[in-house]
Amino acid sequence: MNIFVTGATGTVGREIVKQLAEGGHHVRALSRNPGKAKLPAGVEAVAGDLAAPETFAAAFEGVEALHLINFGGDDYAPLQTGEQIVALARQGGVRRITVLLGGSPTPLDAAVAAGGIASTFLQPVEFMANHLEWAASIRSEGLVREPFCDRLSAVVHEADIAAVAVAALTQEGHAGKTYTLTGPEVLSLRQKIDLLAAAAGREIKLVELTEQQARERWAAAGFPPEAIEFFVEIYGNTPEIGTTVVPTIEQVTGRPARTFAQWAAEHAAAFAARGEQLTPVQPSP
Ligand SMILES: NC(=O)c1ccc[n+]([C@@H]2O[C@H](COP(=O)([O-])OP(=O)(O)OC[C@H]3O[C@@H](n4cnc5c(N)ncnc54)[C@H](OP(=O)(O)O)[C@@H]3O)[C@@H](O)[C@H]2O)c1
Repeated sequence: MNIFVTGATGTVGREIVKQLAEGGHHVRALSRNPGKAKLPAGVEAVAGDLAAPETFAAAFEGVEALHLINFGGDDYAPLQTGEQIVALARQGGVRRITVLLGGSPTPLDAAVAAGGIASTFLQPVEFMANHLEWAASIRSEGLVREPFCDRLSAVVHEADIAAVAVAALTQEGHAGKTYTLTGPEVLSLRQKIDLLAAAAGREIKLVELTEQQARERWAAAGFPPEAIEFFVEIYGNTPEIGTTVVPTIEQVTGRPARTFAQWAAEHAAAFAARGEQLTPVQPSP
């Protein structure tokens, strides 16, 4: 099939592109900087900006399925161009759309739902990949600084989010569905740190921050006030969806959802002490 993937250089999009290409599909991949996109061999890079769909209108030609993100720009602002994108998809002959959802509804989600093309919405909980944010302090100091240390999460592997997208883009039976996507277990912060420590072969301490200290760190890191409020809400008062395991990944893909231990093994080198050599583990297929 001919499949067009937006957000193709992102955490989830890069996995979707890889899995589609491995499955023998012809993939067009959108990036604002295709020269830096480092896409797999055989994938066709397309230059364009989702905030200005006319910049990549030609890429819809002959496309059968389309994966969309619903934000544009490095501030993750909701895209206002959903109707234009859906109109271009219709003209190009797109028959299926998947959308990666975030924390709140966006105009693009509504445009896709109303657009008359079979669509599937993917609602993941916290990505396992977020824990790469701990890599620097683990490598240099052997510790993680976090607020709300009692929080729980059903973290999901980005390759599993992608696998569900690939199924919905390439197979019948997923139209009109909104899939909540979680990992196979609910883990505490301490359990995740212990799994990372086991994978990286080192001790990792957990240092609890107060909410105020965490707010100051996020502000110093450049996060805008609304992002900081979101973090406080999602970590301090995690909604039930974030701590409830659902079997969707296994139901859709036919294989169990990947565990955090698996993710930790795949990324162990990122958490190893400076100068320590770990044999990289191949990402799970
Ligand atoms: N992290 C989590 O725990 C979590 C949980 C649930 C849902 N989500 C949702 O997942 C989404 C983030 O996905 P991700 O982490 O895979 O993304 P990401 O790694 O942050 O990557 C962003 C992608 O968006 C593309 N992009 C940004 N602005 C663009 C524009 N104006 N035009 C074209 N492309 C643009 C970038 O491409 P180029 O830079 O190559 O142009 C890149 O491929 C958000 O909607 C978030 O709410 C995240």
